[in-house]
Amino acid sequence: MDKEPTQQKLDEQLDLISGRLETELKRFSNIEALGRAVYLSEAEKQLKDLLDVRTKFLGKKSEFASLKKSIGRVAAEGRASFGQLVQQTEAIMTASIDEAEQSLKNHIEAARTVRETIDVTMPGRRPRAGHLHPITLMRQRIEDIFVALGYAVEDGREIETDFYNFDALNISAGHPARDPQDTFYTTDGFALRSQTSTVQIHAMQRRGAPVRMIAPGRVFRRDTPDPTHNPMFYQVEGLCVDRGITMAHLKGTLQEFVHRLFGPETRTRFRPSYFPFTEPSAEVDYSCFKCGGAGCRICKWCGWIELGGSGMVHPNVLRAANVNPEKFTGFAFGLGIDRTCARIYELDDIRLFFENDVRFLEQFR
Ligand code: DAH
Repeated sequence: MDKEPTQQKLDEQLDLISGRLETELKRFSNIEALGRAVYLSEAEKQLKDLLDVRTKFLGKKSEFASLKKSIGRVAAEGRASFGQLVQQTEAIMTASIDEAEQSLKNHIEAARTVRETIDVTMPGRRPRAGHLHPITLMRQRIEDIFVALGYAVEDGREIETDFYNFDALNISAGHPARDPQDTFYTTDGFALRSQTSTVQIHAMQRRGAPVRMIAPGRVFRRDTPDPTHNPMFYQVEGLCVDRGITMAHLKGTLQEFVHRLFGPETRTRFRPSYFPFTEPSAEVDYSCFKCGGAGCRICKWCGWIELGGSGMVHPNVLRAANVNPEKFTGFAFGLGIDRTCARIYELDDIRLFFENDVRFLEQFR
């Protein structure tokens, strides 16, 4: 700074500074024009920058501050008017910065309000609620009935050793069911269980006798899929072992079961049959829930519908599970869930259950 700066030079300098400030403030002034599209974070950053601009132009170390200090050195005759000009310039610059700051703050507040606003009149996004699979619904209905009759629900294994799948069930070494043509085997020689009867053995080993349980679950057979066959399907096994259990208990239990599932007018019929794990054995039928036995499309004009297999537990099976056949007797049964479910819903093809077509499954809630 000159010893005696000329009035004109000082005035020019003041002009220059405030001109530069105006230019600098331009980049803050367009924020309103950009409106809400300017991100909140951008506006907040600009507010910080503006603070720096204020320091740069009006701060203690600013060019303006040193200019202000030179008032004392101005020739006496011009000092008052220069002092006035300095004050005026300072007021104008302060006002411009204040204005820019206020507009930024307004913008930030408006943007925050927008961000925090919820339009309560907007329609909500409706979650697509799922529902249980028809086979699951059927399984639960069956479980409820047997639980009410005092049965426990057992959860078995889907992969079994030959012992549980065959030996313990009195299925002899050469029996055709053991044929890899009929049963899936793992490369380690385990079998995918071909029936839920395997759980009879596990249940008796674990619980001992007496025992009353049902075991719903998946079973696997090497069948080619067609309207009534699937290589994977569901069964419910039932087992009741106690002192003095007879075939009458079996008949009464399944009679009660079909009453509760299909209605009290439903009748049962037991036909002699053969299973290696029961003696005697019987196939169980129930009178058609649709026609009451007169014959219709559902029961294929026969009046009866097959429920499953049953019989008195073979002494060899009791022995294999460490239950003394001299003290205990029992009955067992095995029902197919898929076919019963298909009948109830009047479906012609059980494969539909596992195609996972939501349009089909949605019909059964
Ligand atoms: N396990 C037989 C099947 O899959 C069904 C069956 C028959 C189960 C007689 C039993 C029974 O418990 O006693 O065909």
